[in-house]
Amino acid sequence: MRYILLSIFTIMFAGFLTANESKVCQKCHPIIFSEYYESSHRNASAYNNPIHQAMWDAHPKDEKGYTCAKCHSPSDAEALKNGKLSKNETQLEEPISCVYCHTIKDIEDGDSSNTNISTGKQKEFYTAEEGKKGKAEYKTQTSWFGLVKESKSSPYHKIDYDNKNYYSGNVCMGCHSHTNNEHSFDISMLDAVIDEKDENSCVTCHMPQVLGTKVTINESKTHAYHGIAGIYHKSKNMGEYIDFKVSKSSSEFSVSVINKSNHALFGQAFRQGILKAEIKRDAKTIELKPFIFERILAKDGKEVMPWDAKETLKDSLIYAKREIIFAYTLKKGDRLTLTLGVQRISDEGIKKLKLEDNKELSKFRVLKSEQFSF
Ligand code: HEC
Ligand code: HEC
Ligand code: HEC
Ligand code: HEC
Ligand code: HEC
Repeated sequence: MRYILLSIFTIMFAGFLTANESKVCQKCHPIIFSEYYESSHRNASAYNNPIHQAMWDAHPKDEKGYTCAKCHSPSDAEALKNGKLSKNETQLEEPISCVYCHTIKDIEDGDSSNTNISTGKQKEFYTAEEGKKGKAEYKTQTSWFGLVKESKSSPYHKIDYDNKNYYSGNVCMGCHSHTNNEHSFDISMLDAVIDEKDENSCVTCHMPQVLGTKVTINESKTHAYHGIAGIYHKSKNMGEYIDFKVSKSSSEFSVSVINKSNHALFGQAFRQGILKAEIKRDAKTIELKPFIFERILAKDGKEVMPWDAKETLKDSLIYAKREIIFAYTLKKGDRLTLTLGVQRISDEGIKKLKLEDNKELSKFRVLKSEQFSF
């Protein structure tokens, strides 16, 4: 017994001494850690995301250096403070670390982008859990004359349940609100509006509760999904928040795509939403020309890279709703299949950034597919 305890402590202690903070969390939160490891947030750095690397390579350089660190790798202090980008462990393992997100105290509004205000504490974390209030510290309680020992909260850190930003989703808005270029032009266009009366928040839609315990010490049935439901993972689940409405006339039919989220869809530069329409008529399959949702950034009427943009050449994004007309007559007996999906980067973007070799990046990811019979 003494031997087992000793080795447990040696393993835990060795973990606590590494530079990689998120690895420490892995010991007690293994499921959350493995999801996080596959997430867009762990992959947000230039070294983990080839699109980011290509865009930074093409970006003009000045004395400010690597300004992307503010949102893409804020856990790398050297990159954040001095704009120096180097291939270190933080860039690879935890550019946006567990500790970083869980110590965001407040969000400061800014013209070109917002800023996260951190507590700087290493062992006191904010989280949201309905019904819990105040700060929790580790307690053990012995009952039944010392036979049963119960522990509450975490032996490694304190927890603070009182930060409103974690309940409303505002904790995401330090990085996700807007990213303006030097011409005060927003190149990300999420256009999100948080209303506390909304049924869903950034967290309930993108970090839904999924099966598996949130911590090894006290078993819970579910935990908040840290892989981030969205483009990388669980894209088909996101279709739940998008509705199609179809109506037909004698010469055409229209599809209304209704967006039930609190933000615009597909607004990131070079991103593309695609609506495919396929009709089964007798033994034939007819594929119509897909509709593309995108925002093309321009200057003086010509498409340019995001940092040069001053205007939009085209904006076919889905804000609250968008109606698309297909000039095709539907007949009785027709079966129409609508499929809405997203490409992380458009074919045009792939060409501009010379990423043709990586097919994974421009893969069509299905969000929703539905059939209609006439
Ligand atoms: C020695 C084990 C241990 C380590 C290491 C650990 N935690 Fe925890 N953590 C716990 C326990 C136990 C809870 C309490 C869960 C509860 O109250 O049901 C907890 C709860 C949490 C919560 C709040 C969950 C909730 O809903 O109550 C957050 C957030 C959290 N930990 C983050 C972290 C982060 C970030 C790290 C790494 C820096 C970390 N933890 C490292 C054991 C640990
Ligand atoms: C104010 C915060 C912020 C800054 C500063 C910032 N970004 Fe981003 N970036 C984001 C967010 C948030 C996303 C995800 C947006 C989305 O998916 O709609 C993103 C997404 C991206 C993507 C798309 C990645 C993909 O795989 O789809 C690229 C590429 C990118 N940023 C490059 C850069 C570069 C290069 C810089 C620095 C010159 C930079 N960003 C600066 C917040 C920022
Ligand atoms: C992008 C920001 C972000 C990152 C990175 C992040 N978390 Fe979280 N985490 C959150 C938010 C927001 C919640 C609150 C979820 C909720 O309301 O249930 C949360 C919830 C939790 C919980 C409680 C789970 C539950 O179901 O209530 C634990 C434990 C936790 N995080 C640990 C971690 C660990 C460990 C890591 C790194 C491996 C990590 N987090 C990385 C934002 C983040
Ligand atoms: C009602 C559910 C819902 C809510 C609430 C919600 N989202 Fe989304 N979000 C979606 C759907 C659906 C998509 C489209 C599928 C996709 O691209 O992942 C999406 C896409 C995104 C994207 C990718 C955008 C792009 O460029 O393609 C980001 C980033 C994002 N959401 C962040 C947020 C943030 C931050 C909040 C809180 C302000 C939020 N979401 C609230 C459902 C939601
Ligand atoms: C420290 C800045 C930061 C914070 C805080 C942050 N994000 Fe992100 N997020 C990013 C960046 C940067 C990207 C783009 C990563 C990439 O692909 O390069 C991103 C990508 C995303 C995406 C699109 C990619 C995907 O996986 O579908 C979604 C959705 C998203 N974040 C949701 C959230 C939510 C929800 C929160 C709040 C709980 C949050 N983010 C908090 C920086 C942040």
